Amino acid sequence: MRNLFLLLLFLFPFFGNAKSEMSSLESLFVEKRCVTCHVVGRGRFVGPDLYDVVGKYSDQEILQWIQNPQAIYKEYSKIPINDGYPPMPYLGINESDAKELLVYIKKTKSIVNKGTKVRIYGSVKNFSIDKFINAQEVQLELVMADKVKSIKKVLTKNGKFNFDKLIGNIAYRIKIFYDGIEYSTDKFYFLPRENNKVVDLIVYDSTQNIANISVNSAHLIINYEEDSSSIIIAEIINVENQSKSIFVGPNSFSEKVRKINSYSLFSGISNLGFPHRGEDTFIVSDTKVTDTLPMPPGNRRIVFTYGKELNLFSTKIGKTFMNDIDSLTIIVPESKLSLNVEGLEYTKKKTEIKELADEKYSTYSIVNIKKGDVISLQFKKYDFLLDTKTIVGFIFIFFLVGISLYRRYKKS
Ligand code: HEC
Repeated sequence: MRNLFLLLLFLFPFFGNAKSEMSSLESLFVEKRCVTCHVVGRGRFVGPDLYDVVGKYSDQEILQWIQNPQAIYKEYSKIPINDGYPPMPYLGINESDAKELLVYIKKTKSIVNKGTKVRIYGSVKNFSIDKFINAQEVQLELVMADKVKSIKKVLTKNGKFNFDKLIGNIAYRIKIFYDGIEYSTDKFYFLPRENNKVVDLIVYDSTQNIANISVNSAHLIINYEEDSSSIIIAEIINVENQSKSIFVGPNSFSEKVRKINSYSLFSGISNLGFPHRGEDTFIVSDTKVTDTLPMPPGNRRIVFTYGKELNLFSTKIGKTFMNDIDSLTIIVPESKLSLNVEGLEYTKKKTEIKELADEKYSTYSIVNIKKGDVISLQFKKYDFLLDTKTIVGFIFIFFLVGISLYRRYKKS
């Protein structure tokens, strides 16, 4: 059962290992994303080889290419300039960065050898048993503008793998299928002076035992938006896998989607969003969100945000916890909003938050929440008086209208 195809894509949390000497100019070439489309001396990529631009254009024109390709297209009345390429996008590069990139292109041209091949090598280790894996298939994808152009496969020998004599003008991605889980790196690129990359990969034995999964802490950070008279809540949950194996969820392997762990939602909320991760990695229902990404050993942070429009008088939201939680902290701007916490014991403190110095926050701390515990939060807004005035005003106007109608009616 273990090795049934699980259809999981799990990103390797790596790339500290890619060895290269990055000068600040090189960093700029990476940071401004030139590296995702251009090489210097290794040929055609998404865009033309920048080896050839020195001499082909004046410095002024190269700077224009970098800062504002549209100007070049206008000048030559031609899109694209180089046949068979897409147009170069506008990237919002400022003049001083453009000048540095020009220096970088010229310097690099003077030191690189044209057409050099590259090499990707490294190791595959099983973290769970702390051993290198022999005869593990390692798959290398050659990627051009998000399309996989071809695939190479090798087997590890004593945990080591090696891809030799590779072209440098394409992006790469490594995938491994191990114990029912597909692991993948991000796409990566070779800098013009870079000939080798060391990629050390970690995989795990999988486990379905949820006993090692614990929620250490959760935070509810509440914001009040006066304009829309609603609260925005950010919920941050710290989950830990204390085992040495990757937790793939307790549900059956025959189901395509893994259900790792679920977290309950407050009733009646709207605009649920996941700022840190793709929404497609969660299953969302009215009452809960379920994480679907397998959990390697260590900590994971689940973040979601949502809104709730406040009623005129008071608004109550509640939920039933689906996990034991060591500590829950609720942070609320009580200068604008009053909060009443019901269902669980808490300790309350006034808080100084440096970044939010102009607002007064209170913190409610709750410890040792058990699965099945219920909490409800009741909010009242302080601009409520203003609303009362509005209502009194409306009643007064109706009254006047009433009198005038009555008078007219009497006259006729
Ligand atoms: C999304 C891909 C992409 C990115 C990112 C990108 N370029 Fe380009 N670039 C192109 C394409 C495609 C062309 C060819 C366009 C044409 O011929 O009209 C091009 C053309 C150029 C040219 C002219 C090449 C020639 O031979 O005519 C220069 C110079 C250039 N890019 C520099 C840069 C620099 C520097 C960066 C980083 C700031 C950068 N590009 C980022 C795709 C890209």
